Amino acid sequence: GPNISLANVKATLTQLQSIATANGGNRAHGQPGYLASVNYVRGRLDTAGFTTAVQSFSYGGATGYNLIADWPGGDTTNTVMIGSHLDSVAAGPGINDNGSGSASILEVALEVARQGVTPTRHLRFAWWGAEERGLIGSDFYVDSLSATARANIEAYYNFDMVGSPNPGYFLYDGDNSDGTGAGPGPAGSAQLEAVLATYFASIGVPTEGTDFDGRSDYGPFIAAGIPAGGTFTGAEQRKTAAQAAKWGGTSGAAYDACYHRACDTTANINDTALDRNADAIAYAVWNVAVSPAAPPA
Ligand code: PHE
Ligand code: ZN
Ligand code: ZN
Ligand code: ZN
Repeated sequence: GPNISLANVKATLTQLQSIATANGGNRAHGQPGYLASVNYVRGRLDTAGFTTAVQSFSYGGATGYNLIADWPGGDTTNTVMIGSHLDSVAAGPGINDNGSGSASILEVALEVARQGVTPTRHLRFAWWGAEERGLIGSDFYVDSLSATARANIEAYYNFDMVGSPNPGYFLYDGDNSDGTGAGPGPAGSAQLEAVLATYFASIGVPTEGTDFDGRSDYGPFIAAGIPAGGTFTGAEQRKTAAQAAKWGGTSGAAYDACYHRACDTTANINDTALDRNADAIAYAVWNVAVSPAAPPA
């Protein structure tokens, strides 16, 4: 996969921060900073040649929005989706949670466009609304699909918090070989984890599994039997001494001490973690959908 520009990802984070600052300090569901975020990301995708759609839903007395972007081409009966929630909590601008995933998948999408790729599998990117209210947007999307449209989604990759300031390098545990062994995702999730594991091994960064515990937008996909995967650099939990020994950073401190707080600003990002994760996303997209070893069956 291509190298993704950290500077470009960070420039998008700066834009999301500006949107929050101009809209009362957040990008939360039902607040003006959320729709402004959707419009900003959509504008960049439209300019690059994506086919975009905004799916509206109602929750908590407000309208929410999912942004869906299809790259024309590829086998639509073998669609690979890549998603991140674009909403923040009301307490702050949500730059690590989840500007980081949103900006990273946007930059990978824009790289697809720059290279003019003709993927093997069809590529569909998604920015979910109202994740912070309980996976509302992604749940609405999966529920809205016909049985055929659902069956056409071969895989879902989720990216929620990929630039934590005291980072861990976690992969959703699709092979059930690490994490706590709470249970694997649907069959096929192991291969999605393996692709990401191959990337991190190639750059010499050890990873750990994290369980599919239902805390992000892969939840509705795995509930529908769709294989899922993704990366995560940690939220409110604390880095252990063993983790600090292998990853650096601060033992005993939260991966993200500004999780769901006003201080989740552009200062709340570890550039190395963000850079590695953006490159990992590109590696996964290229290896699963653009030039895969195993073409669609
Ligand atoms: N989904 C959580 C949030 O947005 C963060 C999280 C992501 C927690 C992945 C665990 C695993 O607040
Ligand atoms: Zn959150
Ligand atoms: Zn999140
Ligand atoms: Zn695993």
